Amino acid sequence: MYYPEEVIQQVIDRNDIEDVVSSCVELKKSGSNLVGLCPFHNEKTPSFTVSPNKRMFYCFGCGVGGNVISFVMRYENMDFQEALKYLAERGGVTLPESRYSREDREKSEHRQLMLDANREAAVFYYKNLYSPKGIKGLKYLKEERRLSDETIKKFGLGFSEITDSSLVKHLKTKGFADKVLIDAGLALFDEKRGLRDRFWNRVMFPIMDMHRKVIGFGGRVMGDSKPKYLNTSESPIFDKSRNLFGLNYARGSRANNFIICEGYMDVISMHQAGFDQAVASLGTAFTNEHAAMLERITQKAKKKILLAYDSDGAGVNAALRAIDMLRDVGIMPRVINMKPYKDPDEFIKNLGPEEFQKRIDEAENGFMYILRQTEADFDMSDPEGKTSFEKNIAMLLCTLNEGAERDNYAETVSRKYNITMENLRKLMVFYSTGIFQTQKRPSREDLSNRPKVKDSGKNQKLLLGWISNDPELYPQISSIVKPEDFDEGVLRESAERLFSDIQNGTINIPAMIAAYEDPESQSEAASIFGVRMIMPETKEERSKAFTELVEKVKRNSYSRWAEASAGSAEDMIKAIEMKKALEKLKDLKLDVK
Ligand code: CTP
Ligand code: MN
Repeated sequence: MYYPEEVIQQVIDRNDIEDVVSSCVELKKSGSNLVGLCPFHNEKTPSFTVSPNKRMFYCFGCGVGGNVISFVMRYENMDFQEALKYLAERGGVTLPESRYSREDREKSEHRQLMLDANREAAVFYYKNLYSPKGIKGLKYLKEERRLSDETIKKFGLGFSEITDSSLVKHLKTKGFADKVLIDAGLALFDEKRGLRDRFWNRVMFPIMDMHRKVIGFGGRVMGDSKPKYLNTSESPIFDKSRNLFGLNYARGSRANNFIICEGYMDVISMHQAGFDQAVASLGTAFTNEHAAMLERITQKAKKKILLAYDSDGAGVNAALRAIDMLRDVGIMPRVINMKPYKDPDEFIKNLGPEEFQKRIDEAENGFMYILRQTEADFDMSDPEGKTSFEKNIAMLLCTLNEGAERDNYAETVSRKYNITMENLRKLMVFYSTGIFQTQKRPSREDLSNRPKVKDSGKNQKLLLGWISNDPELYPQISSIVKPEDFDEGVLRESAERLFSDIQNGTINIPAMIAAYEDPESQSEAASIFGVRMIMPETKEERSKAFTELVEKVKRNSYSRWAEASAGSAEDMIKAIEMKKALEKLKDLKLDVK
């Protein structure tokens, strides 16, 4: 980190979160908290909460949260360093002259050089495509992929020739250092052959970020050899989980939606056919970061999200995962049916833009899509199978946040699957009377009763949130619950800090949030402590609920460990010990607040 923790703490201490937030958001008192309309998403009833005690904010509507620094970062659109400087000035804290500033400057110069080299490479590949050396590539793009010169130009497609290292030679005459070319992923080095081009004999797809800077490339072979696509590997300028191919154009589209698909060619075909709202994740799966990014973009523009994934099994699974991630950020996407074709590119080639537009208009609601795909997992001709399916539907319906939305879906489902509303309600009541209610929807996996139940972190958050409200609980379970029981990343790190804070006698929530510089992790950390619990009435019930929660977290930890275990003798002993620890829980006598 840039500044020492003490300095960050000082900045947090000198800037009262209530003061800072209320200069931007109108807040009203509500119990020990303050509430107002969330500045980070559209809402009519206030779910944005500031807790002066915990010195944090959290929005129960959109899940955004953090400390005073996070608030400034989001509200003023600053990065961590900028927000820190701003608040330091506001609170009269002098920041120490940074020790790393030179190193940092060098880093940013190096980044700029990598971007310059990429830009130069894109131009080089493009010119190549239209030179005699590129005849094969141009023929492939135009005849086989049916792309127009205009499309090729818009996306800056190019060609890397067969001869070794013509790009390296070109960039070296332009004065780029070897290290820049290697780090940018344009060149490879080995002792035998020296520095050489990474891409050769491929049609090239430059990948641009939102500001139209070339950050990497995808290269496709012409024909069927493998690998079909070769992509730039991750680099300081190429972060696959934060960029989407085509977003630089799709952002300016006038369509009222974004279409997410799997491939470069799908995006390009859609754009050529007039669907300039298409984007693709870059050779990897859609990520939570993508979802969060799209949420920020669509929220403001009030746009819908459509999925145009491949129609094969892998595509269906990818779509299901993407739906879960989008639902986590409060978006319900719709799914475009591509059958009988494999992907949007083939669909448009065969049936044309009008038919594709029809498919857009007929896109299936993501929730109904999940149900339809779930159906395939059950034997509907068997009464038992049908009952399990109904249970599953009820659980899925319980994941819907809003009552009205839930009722609407329940009615649709009841009609479509021929289940009486009465039955469905009964099942839903059964599954929704958990003692806890969080604002965030549990994921699909979380609730499905298939053998591999995975905790999405909900129980772990609840446990940490509860302990932070009632720290006396920790010493009572410290021999049972360890930081290792929590998922790696924000959850485990927060557990570590919380437990050691309790041992040291003070819980410092803002500091736990300040351990992260990116707003997503800050929100995640804040969500642990901002969690809203509906507490059981009696002490006895609370004690039981807490014990059950510990048990769930331990079980999750246990199954995660068992999955990774190689089954050695040592592991067997550890497994027995873990089982014993779980049994011990039954005799636990807790003193709960
Ligand atoms: N992909 C990749 N590496 C591979 C195969 C695929 O990075 N070896 C990525 C690419 O971004 C590609 C996307 O996954 O665009 C989808 O792959 P696939 O469906 O196999 O390819 P198509 O997009 O259909 O490619 P094409 O139409 O060119 O055959
Ligand atoms: Mn394809």
